[in-house]
Amino acid sequence: MGVIERYSELLPVTEKTPKLTLGEGSTPLVHLDNISEMLGIELWAKLEGCNPSGSFKDRGMVMAVAKALESGAKALVCASTGNTSASAAAYAAAANVPCFVLLPAGKVALGKLAQALMYGATVIAVNGNFDRALEMAREAAEKEGYAIVNSVNPYRLWGQRSGAWEICEALGKAPDWHAIPVGNAGNISAYWAGYKQYQELGKIDKLPRMMGFQAAGAAPLVTGEPCPNPETVATAIRIGNPVSAHLAKEAVAMSSGEFNSVTDEEILAAQLLLSSKGGIFAEPASCAPLAGLIKFKKEGRLPRGITAVMILTGNGLKDPDTAMSQVGRPLEIGDSLEELLAVMKK
Ligand code: F0G
Repeated sequence: MGVIERYSELLPVTEKTPKLTLGEGSTPLVHLDNISEMLGIELWAKLEGCNPSGSFKDRGMVMAVAKALESGAKALVCASTGNTSASAAAYAAAANVPCFVLLPAGKVALGKLAQALMYGATVIAVNGNFDRALEMAREAAEKEGYAIVNSVNPYRLWGQRSGAWEICEALGKAPDWHAIPVGNAGNISAYWAGYKQYQELGKIDKLPRMMGFQAAGAAPLVTGEPCPNPETVATAIRIGNPVSAHLAKEAVAMSSGEFNSVTDEEILAAQLLLSSKGGIFAEPASCAPLAGLIKFKKEGRLPRGITAVMILTGNGLKDPDTAMSQVGRPLEIGDSLEELLAVMKK
């Protein structure tokens, strides 16, 4: 059951809303035994990389595209650091509607680029950063009457609330800490709205602290001012002027949470730890929260025994180049058993 069907009563859908789905949502929430023990907390990971296009974007995109179809939109347009474009292109293909995606030239992970092209979107590389591409996408959508499916589209954030609902259902409560990477700041805002909605409905009593993590080279919410030249290995969150900054700040303030930043080295170390000790391969941006929790632990600021959920927003397979730059090559041998046994003994 997709997000629209599973949560139709909680979402702004009508009889006229198409029941679009690619099987998004209902992703696993996994307890990370080894890393929990290392950190002295109960750490859960929400595997958003298990969504059909490999990232959390599908939860909101299915809503945005369904609503665009409902209102008779002729085409979809978005700017993206990669995942939004993959997701938009996938749902556009399923819904038979043209899709234009604007990407910062040369700054999108290989898997995401392959996806957008395979799904048949018109892919446009902009020689500028994501923030500029988003301005252009918004202006073009306005001029041409196309549906913009970035998170400025309110239906995106509605659909993304479903992640919070699933976590509460799985744990029977909200976590103490909700740790999440922050780029354009839509997802943290959507999760907060989802938790609050569940509290208002009496489904949970306590709200989590919202802990937002940015990359040090693209950390406008930590420094408090836009970052004109964002740079980070975590290209998904290479964003200098988040459109939902106001909502994200409110979520953090109201929940007694905080924004913090982690370096590229810390992100890559967390990615490797998550893979090699957790068995989960997530893309670099998704590992910013784990890097943050490790940093908190080192600083003595990680309360013992808390329940923390981190949102692993995107699949590690999306960015094979960054992964390969971290690890060695395979051991190569001929086709004899002797050679095999010899390398196994090493
Ligand atoms: N993690 C991943 C893997 C992402 O792709 C993004 C955003 C984020 C975290 C941050 O989420 O923007 O809601 O704060 N990716 C967008 C894109 C910007 O174009 O795919 P956010």
